Amino acid sequence: MIDGLKKDAKKLTGKIIEWRRDFHRHPEIAYQEKRTSSVIRQFLESLDIPVTTCAKTGLRGILEGIPGGKTVALRADIDALPLKEEGDKEYISENPEAAHACGHDGHMAILMGAVELLSRRKDRFKGNVVFLFQPSEERIPGGAKKMIEEGALEGVDAAFGLHLWQPLPTGSIGIVKGAMMAQPDDFSITVKGKGGHGSMPHTTVDPILVASHLVVNIQSIVSRNVDPLKPVVVSFGTVKGGTIYNIIPGEVSLTGTVRTFDSSIQSLAEKRLREITEETCKAFGATAEFEYEKGYPPLVNHEAMVDFVLEVTAKTLGKDRIQTIDPVMGGEDFAYFLQKVPGAFLFFGMGDGMEFPHHHPAFDLDEKALPQATLLMTSLALEYLGTAE
Ligand code: NI
Repeated sequence: MIDGLKKDAKKLTGKIIEWRRDFHRHPEIAYQEKRTSSVIRQFLESLDIPVTTCAKTGLRGILEGIPGGKTVALRADIDALPLKEEGDKEYISENPEAAHACGHDGHMAILMGAVELLSRRKDRFKGNVVFLFQPSEERIPGGAKKMIEEGALEGVDAAFGLHLWQPLPTGSIGIVKGAMMAQPDDFSITVKGKGGHGSMPHTTVDPILVASHLVVNIQSIVSRNVDPLKPVVVSFGTVKGGTIYNIIPGEVSLTGTVRTFDSSIQSLAEKRLREITEETCKAFGATAEFEYEKGYPPLVNHEAMVDFVLEVTAKTLGKDRIQTIDPVMGGEDFAYFLQKVPGAFLFFGMGDGMEFPHHHPAFDLDEKALPQATLLMTSLALEYLGTAE
C-alpha cells in the first residue's frame, strides 16, 4: 500500500502547490473565510463528499468507506492573520489587510491532498474519514470549540492534526507525548492616576511611574512564586500612555500574555497578577482595572496515539525523519478536539531555506513539505482504520 500511496502523493504535488498558492493569494481572517470555504466546498462536492457548514465558515466533510469500521477525523485550520504581507513572492497576498503568515494555506492544501487520495481508496478501507476545515484558529475563543458544539466530532473515534513548522527541517516531524503546547491567556491592566504638568509631579498621581513598578514587580511571579521546575511565561506586549514630553498623563494601559501547561500554575499566575496590580497601584495612590482572559487549554497528546503517529511516520517517511522536540509555549485550539477524543497533533517541518519565523510579514514555507505531509495524513487515516493492504 505504502508504495502506491507514495507515488500518488508525489503525482499530486503540482495540484497541492497550486491550491496552497491560491489560498495564499486570497487570505481571509477569522470567521471571514468565505472565499476559502467556498473553494474547499466545491472541491469536496466535486468528489461527491457530503459536506456541511460548521462554525459559520467552517466545513465538515465525510467520506464513507466500506460500512462497519471506525471513524477518524483529520483537521486543517483555514484562517489567515491580520497582517500586511512583505516580500516579492509571485503568489503574494492580494489582500493588504491579511496574510497566510502562519502556514494555514499549506494545512488546507495538505488536507485537500489527503481528501483526494482517500476518496480514490474509499472502496478499500472500512469506516469513515471526517474532514474538518476549521475557521478562526488564530483568534480566541477559536473555531474548534464552536465546531465541536455544532457536532463536528459526532461518531468520531480519533482525531489528528498538524502544523507546518519552520524550526524543523523539511519533511521531518516533531511530536511530544502529553502536553505539547501551552495555554495562552492574555491580560490587560489600566492604571488610573491623576494627570498634570510635568514640572509639578507632586500635584499628580503619575501612572507612568506606577506602570513601571508594575512591570518590574510582575516579574517576581515567575521568579519567586512558581516552582522553578514548572514552565510558565509572563510577558508584556504593550505599554501605552501619554501624548507629549511635559504632560503627566491620567492613565497608562498595559497588555500581556501568560503561558502555562498546568491549571494550578495558571490560577496562581492570574491570582498574583491581580494582587500585585491592585497592591502596587494602592501603594502609589492610583487605581487599576484588571482583566484576564483565558485562552485555549493546553494541547495534550494521547500517549498511545503519539506512538501510533511515530510508527506510521517511520513506515511512510522513514525513522530518520522523527526529531526530538520540547513542548512549545505557543497555543493551539486543536486542544479542544483532544479533550473530546483520543488523537495527536504534530509539527511537520518545512524550514529548509526559510529564514522568517511564523507570523513574520515575509513568512513563507518550503513547498516540498506539502506532498510529504499529505502522504503522512493520508497514511494516518488509512492505518488507523486498519486498511493496510
Ligand atoms: Ni498557526
